[in-house]
Amino acid sequence: MLPTLEEKPVYVNRMFARIAPTYDLMNRLMTFGQDQSWRREMLNFCNLPPRGGSLLDVGAGTGDIAYTALQRNPTLRAVGSDFTYEMMAAGVGKIPGVSLPFVQADTYHLPFPDNTFDAVVSGFLVRNVVDRVAAFREMARVTKPGGRVVCLETTPPSNSVLGPLFRFYFFQIVPIVGSLVARDRQAYAYLPHSTVAFPPPAELARLMEQAGLQNVFYVERMLRSVAIHVGVKLTSPK
Ligand SMILES: C[S@@+](CC[C@H](N)C(=O)[O-])C[C@H]1O[C@@H](n2cnc3c(N)ncnc32)[C@H](O)[C@@H]1O
Repeated sequence: MLPTLEEKPVYVNRMFARIAPTYDLMNRLMTFGQDQSWRREMLNFCNLPPRGGSLLDVGAGTGDIAYTALQRNPTLRAVGSDFTYEMMAAGVGKIPGVSLPFVQADTYHLPFPDNTFDAVVSGFLVRNVVDRVAAFREMARVTKPGGRVVCLETTPPSNSVLGPLFRFYFFQIVPIVGSLVARDRQAYAYLPHSTVAFPPPAELARLMEQAGLQNVFYVERMLRSVAIHVGVKLTSPK
């Protein structure tokens, strides 16, 4: 069900290209409309100034995080980067009156100088990349010293009583909704499988520390099915 590590980048890129037209709708349906509130909350952790400031949304897809930031603060300089052209194309112009520049780029090679952004965010990206430490290190590189790297991701179901409930929802219901709405059962079967294979929040926090981020902490939401991780770039990572 999951691609090999070698296949993963091309598999992920093609999958998001296919589901781009219905991506936003599927997010709203799968999360019962909660996904936008997580994006708003992750922006609260970015410590951006009330006016001005700069934000990079990595793996931006259709740009929901960056658009939300721009709606809050129209003086913000926000950029969305992603390696899937179709996702960004689906996002261009989707919020009337709000202009978000997109850049096509791989997460491991962000086309920005060191110390460029006040905050760098990623939403549901890190599960899709093979070398997570390298991805966080690259995000830290383009973050200004003192700036924050903030990551929103799904978390593997716990062994608590809610674990089986989530497994049922994720493995049985989500692929059916995906086949009906996105006409792509495979893509929405990849979601639960990649979530189960993803490190739990405490381990992800350690990967961020390995990437040179400091003061790392996280909060869990929606009955611990998603987490927001926050790290600070205090010094330039080695
Ligand atoms: C699940 S979508 C998330 C979109 C958006 N951030 C959101 O909050 O909904 C993941 C995005 O990450 C992108 N992506 C995955 N691996 C990537 C990589 N190595 N470099 C750049 N983008 C990548 C995909 O193309 C896709 O648009």
